[in-house]
Amino acid sequence: MRKRVLILLGPPGAGKGTVGNSLSKQWGIPIISSGDILREHLKANTDIGNIAKKYVESGELVPDDVVEGMIADELKKTIYANGFIIDGFPRTVNQAKMLDKIIENTNTKVLYLKADDDFLVNRLSKRRVCEGCGKTYHLINISPQKEGICDICGGKLIQRADDREDVVRRRLAAYKELTTPLIEYYDRKKILFSVNGNGELIDTLTEIKKTFEW
Ligand code: AP5
Repeated sequence: MRKRVLILLGPPGAGKGTVGNSLSKQWGIPIISSGDILREHLKANTDIGNIAKKYVESGELVPDDVVEGMIADELKKTIYANGFIIDGFPRTVNQAKMLDKIIENTNTKVLYLKADDDFLVNRLSKRRVCEGCGKTYHLINISPQKEGICDICGGKLIQRADDREDVVRRRLAAYKELTTPLIEYYDRKKILFSVNGNGELIDTLTEIKKTFEW
């Protein structure tokens, strides 16, 4: 069987991380998130973190060469040797062309989560993340058992700095300009599956189960 790769595509807040982590557990395939790796670099004040900081905090895309190098290094790890789910990368046609070389001869599919702007701004205003383990919650739909406390590690739940409405609007603008061309890019390769990211998590997962095929 060829190695399986799932690329998650969709606007900020469509549920790439939430759906991706759920599929990762269900299928036993590791997940890699460019946003999570960048936030770790920011926390640790690495060279990549210092370059990326102003872009991440303002909602713009980090330059291609920085992210491409970071992802290429990450994908060399043996845990990804038998396949992976990738969230947040590629985000530009250049990044997609770079990834094409790495995933040559794999069974790659792209899951595109659709959702509209006002819904996403509203949803992201209610997202909370654990500052300890990074688990994501939603104040209404996916709430923790104890208010403000992570169910997994007991860490404090905080709001991401880039989930402020003005920054979310800039992230949506960057997505529309630079990332939406990837929908056609992958559709032409006939590997794109679209599902609705607007609803409850269970509905999104049910739709994936019904429509998605490897
Ligand atoms: P990144 O962290 O990748 O942010 P994003 O793509 O904007 O995506 P989000 O993490 O905001 O949303 P998501 O779709 O994963 O939604 P989630 O599952 O959390 O990137 C951050 C920044 O890093 C970028 O702005 C950029 O600066 C930089 N960057 C990263 N990658 C880059 C690249 N390749 N090139 C250049 N720069 C890059 O869900 C959202 C909320 O909804 C949660 O609260 C969740 O609990 C809730 N929820 C409720 N119902 C559902 C449901 N049905 N499905 C899923 N989630 C649900």
